[in-house]
Amino acid sequence: KKIAVVIVAAGSGSRFGDPIPKQYHLLGAKTLLRHCIESFAKYVPSELIRVIYNPDHQDLYDNSVKGLSLDAPVPGGVTRQQSVLNGLRSLENENPDHVLIHDAARPGISDDVIDRVISALATYQGAIPTLPVLDTIKQTESTGIIRRTIPREQLHRAQTPQGFHFKTILDAHQRFEGHEFTDDAALLEQLGLDVVCVEGAGSNDKITRPDDIERARDWINPVPA
Ligand code: C5P
Repeated sequence: KKIAVVIVAAGSGSRFGDPIPKQYHLLGAKTLLRHCIESFAKYVPSELIRVIYNPDHQDLYDNSVKGLSLDAPVPGGVTRQQSVLNGLRSLENENPDHVLIHDAARPGISDDVIDRVISALATYQGAIPTLPVLDTIKQTESTGIIRRTIPREQLHRAQTPQGFHFKTILDAHQRFEGHEFTDDAALLEQLGLDVVCVEGAGSNDKITRPDDIERARDWINPVPA
């Protein structure tokens, strides 16, 4: 099967509290974005990898990918969803069978997670890596008073790369353009299509706050046993 990859890196990372967006921060010798690109470069030829970026970050981008032979990055949109759609449209001529959509803010992606997502696409229209929810989840009123406890057995934390049959996810994104979903699987859910969960990984959690980068150093430089 012909597999393409969309890496969304056009966010400003406002919650990260740093003028340099998180995808351009270093983890070891490489930026978060570069870790992601290199993880997928083992699976797909470089002309099928699209990085979605904000042209305001041109210098950060250029430094980040120095020495890699990639096609020109694709300008993103105001929302993550728009950035993904721009990436999918840029692949229409390539007409891949499957596409993996990944957040540049998840540099700890591992081969076994990618393998599980790809394998599941033989059976399902969509597959996403998830982890179980371990804490007890409370739903509250705006006052903070608890209304109910949500049984956690059926809850899962969604990660990326989220894999899809290309035409299915492109159609879904075109249909829901302008809506705001926080991941791509949600669009297929809206259409009643089956998306399956496969096992994710703790190292693949999203870098959102500065502390998260500190924690990520543990998998980049594991402490020798
Ligand atoms: O903001 P959040 O952490 O949910 O962003 C997830 C991913 O989506 C990040 O890699 C970010 O760069 C990307 N993004 C994007 N375009 C936007 C907003 C977010 O490519 N407009």
